[in-house]
Amino acid sequence: MATFTVQQNLQLLGKYRYAEIQAMELMGSWAYTMVQPDIKIAFGRHMYQDAVHADLIGKRIPELKGRSKQYQYIAPSDEYVKIVETIWKADDELRRMIGLYRVLKPAVIDALKQHLTRVELPADEPTAYILRHIADEEEDHIAWAETVIPRLGSPEHREQAVAWEKELKQRLQEAGGVWAEGKPPGTYAFTKTHPYSKLPVRDERWNVIPPDAEFVEKNWSFDTNEGKLHLLHDLLNSEFITVERMGRILADCPDIPWQMKVDMAHQAWDEARHAEIVQRRLEELGGHVGMFPTSCFGWEQDVNRPDPLERLALSNMTFESESCKHLRDWIAKAKKTGDARSQQLVEFLLADEVNHVLYGVHWIDELTKDDPLRRKRVLAYPDQVLSGQHPVGVYFKETVNAVGDRQ
Ligand SMILES: [Fe+2]
Ligand SMILES: [Fe+2]
Repeated sequence: MATFTVQQNLQLLGKYRYAEIQAMELMGSWAYTMVQPDIKIAFGRHMYQDAVHADLIGKRIPELKGRSKQYQYIAPSDEYVKIVETIWKADDELRRMIGLYRVLKPAVIDALKQHLTRVELPADEPTAYILRHIADEEEDHIAWAETVIPRLGSPEHREQAVAWEKELKQRLQEAGGVWAEGKPPGTYAFTKTHPYSKLPVRDERWNVIPPDAEFVEKNWSFDTNEGKLHLLHDLLNSEFITVERMGRILADCPDIPWQMKVDMAHQAWDEARHAEIVQRRLEELGGHVGMFPTSCFGWEQDVNRPDPLERLALSNMTFESESCKHLRDWIAKAKKTGDARSQQLVEFLLADEVNHVLYGVHWIDELTKDDPLRRKRVLAYPDQVLSGQHPVGVYFKETVNAVGDRQ
């Protein structure tokens, strides 16, 4: 088989990038409705890895003289897009996992592996290097999914889902997979729109109380074991919320700048790791998930805003900025009481949280620098949500001023 020319590369790389971005958006779109916490965590990790895959490909394309934007994002075929849409619409966890990890991702790996057999070497070693890396990570994603899929759904469900899987694979094969050779690029498009969301889904262990109920978990202090359990338990839920709300930005706002998507996906990954870290520490200290009631305060006011910058103003610049203050206090108390393990872990959490606040500051600053009205509306949003509500210890005004100082 002949090796690929520069031009042939350009016709395929944008298709791989399209497939990676679709996978990222599917996970982002689904995360808050998935019951299984380990799926939410893996989605946080995979969203970021898929963003990196798309990013690597996106940087290789202009190196091959594909400077025009059209090379960056090529829908393989209309049928391919319709298959992604069918999978996005699946409303149970089992079908979603099957659609993404047994149909879409294996098709990407097939395409990459075939591509790798036809790379002109060493001339096109940079493409080979990227594709090999992506194929390896995608194989890890699939291997993880295969540990989860067997415990989802009832036997009857599983039987139907396997028939559905076969059907989708057949459709995708007839469509020519991700290469879609001989087919025109897709022009069909769909948006991953969500209904109004009051709360994210939690498994049966959690006791989620209404957002406007009296919720004072943050009044506890990190210098006693009981205080740590309350605070870590509350934080664990916040970490899940943030994976979920980052996913929603990726799915809801496909038109934001690419680097902003990479940042949001990075944050989803950070929060997924935080959830793992916090749950482990909670359990080491004798606690467990669901031991206290939980509140999802701010969720409804975040994910239902059409302007993603309002979401960042409320959650990144206000709640996460507040969270940094709490974490600094925890570190001091852990140190004072000789809890070196908590101290070490919380120091890592804090390092990430500071970046999350900066994502908010940076993107609001960047995207509103020529739009003072939007900036004003965005920065006023937290005030609007919080006036009349007094969640424990939110000092949003200070945060807003911090951005004002940067101008
Ligand atoms: Fe976090
Ligand atoms: Fe965060």
